[in-house]
Amino acid sequence: MSLEPETLDVVVIGAGAAGLFCAGIAAQLGLRTIVLDHAKKPAEKVRISGGGRCNFTNIDCAPDRFLGDNSHFAKSALARYSPLDFCDLMARHRLSWTEKTLGQLFCDQKSGAVIDLLLDELAAGNGSLRLQTVISDIEKIETGFRVTTNNGVVESASLVVATGGLSIPKMGATGFAYDLAKKFGHEVVSPRAGLVPLTFSGALKDAFAALSGVAIDARVSANGTQFDEAILFTHRGLSGPAVLQASSYWREGAPIDVDLLPGVDILGVVKAKREADGRSTPLQWLEELFPKRFAIFLGPALGIVGDQRLGEYSNIRLAEIAEKLSHWTLKPTGTEGWRTAEVTVGGIATDGLSSKTMESRHVPGLYFIGECVDVTGWLGGYNFQWAWASAHAAATGISQKAS
Ligand code: FDA
Repeated sequence: MSLEPETLDVVVIGAGAAGLFCAGIAAQLGLRTIVLDHAKKPAEKVRISGGGRCNFTNIDCAPDRFLGDNSHFAKSALARYSPLDFCDLMARHRLSWTEKTLGQLFCDQKSGAVIDLLLDELAAGNGSLRLQTVISDIEKIETGFRVTTNNGVVESASLVVATGGLSIPKMGATGFAYDLAKKFGHEVVSPRAGLVPLTFSGALKDAFAALSGVAIDARVSANGTQFDEAILFTHRGLSGPAVLQASSYWREGAPIDVDLLPGVDILGVVKAKREADGRSTPLQWLEELFPKRFAIFLGPALGIVGDQRLGEYSNIRLAEIAEKLSHWTLKPTGTEGWRTAEVTVGGIATDGLSSKTMESRHVPGLYFIGECVDVTGWLGGYNFQWAWASAHAAATGISQKAS
């Protein structure tokens, strides 16, 4: 281990999607760049993403698909590095992709190919990567920053923090970025688990466990934002894309609203069924609409008991059933937490950062990018797009400042 500090232009802490991408751009812009990470392997979240195929961006990317205290903050970076820019890079590396639902682009090769792309870009600029490097201290010095690690001391004019959020601690997630931000006078919006299954207790938990594995299409609303996608019953509660999306907006103690037949005039449909086939039972009608196990669960929940025929149901009873089907109000007890959350909602407050360069407004030369910032994307490639765009904004900002 060298006793003399190593001097560089840029030190990036965190070899995830954002850190590696930022370092690659900075290095290719002629800046002497190193990436430090405490993990054994780089970009492990890229590896497990998209079921191993990395949903690396979303062609419908727009600022309204991101949460954060300042809804305008992400606009600048997202406008200057688009999904097509990353597609061009993929093509230059001879990687191909497939568009799945809702604009989601998945890598046709394994997600490891995206990690190789990031490492190749870093190498193309002669940037370096130092893994299993534990940071013990960061000091502001006259020329920039001094970073003390178990692998020596590095000094640089610019320091980029890209250590991500708190989701999946088993994979090396830490609150490093938040602690450092606070040390340098930044506010941190309380981090909470996002894109995470919701849990229930008591009778609902037991009912959902019995339905485990059943999936239905629905509209799930939380805190005024709604998503039309599948919901999945699990042993602990609810998951599936619509629930994961809604979880990022859900607040502890609040209900969620589930429309089981979005866009359907349920009362009109059930009245027509009564007209055409008054001898059928409401349960038979539900079984035409939903998987049988779910229909059987729904019956009592909708107050349908006994074997009364549809023809015997009054308009008022049918209206009550229709209302319950379109507004099934459920109160989750919590979420599955950091263990399974795909992202962290909240993070370093954006009013302390430049939206153009991600540079700290308090400490010149200090940058925060990626998931550690209070910008959180929807499910479907948006979080990687934010990692690429914020990394690009920081790298180009650093380069312009240096020139
Ligand atoms: P990221 O967490 O990727 O990287 C942070 C790096 O910092 C890690 O390498 C870590 O080891 C390092 N680090 C942390 N603390 C440190 C410390 N104290 N010292 C040194 N190093 C430290 N998004 C998407 O758009 N499409 C998708 O398909 C998926 N799929 C997906 C699946 C699963 C299971 C998860 C958990 C997440 C996703 N995501 C996703 C979200 C996406 O993975 C996430 O938003 C990005 O990886 C964030 O990139 P960052 O580089 O900001 O952090």
